[in-house]
Amino acid sequence: MTGETGLPPDPVDTRSAATLGGPERTSVAIRCVRAVRRAEGSNAPPPTPGGAPRAFLVESHFTNRHRNTVVPNPSPPHQTPMAAIIAESLTRIVRDADRMLAIVDQVSFAVSAGTSFSITGPSGSGKSTLLSLMAGLDAPSSGTIRVLGEDLAALGEEDRTRFRGRHIGFVFQSHQLMLQLTALENVMLPLEIQGKAGARRIASELLGEVGLADRLHHFPTTLSGGEQQRVGLARAYATQPRVLLADEPTGSLDAQTGERITALLFELQRNHGTTLVLVTHDEELAARCEAGIRLHAGKSLPRDPGAGSAQRMR
Ligand SMILES: Nc1ncnc2c1ncn2[C@@H]1O[C@H](COP(=O)(O)OP(=O)(O)O)[C@@H](O)[C@H]1O
Ligand SMILES: [Mg+2]
Repeated sequence: MTGETGLPPDPVDTRSAATLGGPERTSVAIRCVRAVRRAEGSNAPPPTPGGAPRAFLVESHFTNRHRNTVVPNPSPPHQTPMAAIIAESLTRIVRDADRMLAIVDQVSFAVSAGTSFSITGPSGSGKSTLLSLMAGLDAPSSGTIRVLGEDLAALGEEDRTRFRGRHIGFVFQSHQLMLQLTALENVMLPLEIQGKAGARRIASELLGEVGLADRLHHFPTTLSGGEQQRVGLARAYATQPRVLLADEPTGSLDAQTGERITALLFELQRNHGTTLVLVTHDEELAARCEAGIRLHAGKSLPRDPGAGSAQRMR
């Protein structure tokens, strides 16, 4: 028996979706599973190291199999660490033709909880790779990355996926919305996957917060680029992640729309008390963050040596 993509149906994924709750929940999640299968049945490109979207959608949403597995909350409120993210000599080495190349090279920094932190640098300097390491979507070759006190590399794959789904939100340059789902359904999806009650209400409120109360039932293709990115922001905040990773979130928008999205991003970050890591090649935008680093060929430099505002461990 094969599914509509010609692939055999995946009983695990279907079961996960079916255990989410009532018929409405199941239908949104299953439609999403089918959409992912359709995409993968086509000639969709494989994930790139910086290409978290597909891995995020599939892993974070559909590998949630062991719902009874106890994953310790890494940081209960009374133990909230001062630094939400700590990288120590973080290094990622890849094989490049005939040599080994350090695309993230001995990078150390700390991001204080509830603050905004920028990562700037030219194209190819390792920004997206660094973000993937922070999400546990890529593994360090050496060094450590701790998020909310948790050493991501020390977690098993299942626990790392659960940790990511529970604590980390993503915003990408390209909104990465599910085209087959409405704006409302896109925002409901991560909530339903986590089995949260009141997904429809929470998603509606968040879409209201980003100014899309009258676009709830629009499909992504009928929304403007800025509106799509607003849905992406609402989706990222839906599960109230403690850490939000944003990879050039305004990179594909015109200046005016980008400015509105940026303002919204910081407003949501403040309102929700989120730790925001913002990858951008825009130095002005980076300067609006409370701290940051600049990458050059995988190595980190202080964001602004003159101001001395970057947080470096050494
Ligand atoms: N798996 C890989 N193998 C070889 N080179 C890679 C791999 N992943 C990334 N790179 C290279 O590492 C560099 C950093 O990539 P990336 O993190 O995407 O940079 P940025 O986001 O700053 O543009 C690029 O030169 C990219 O081509
Ligand atoms: Mg990049």
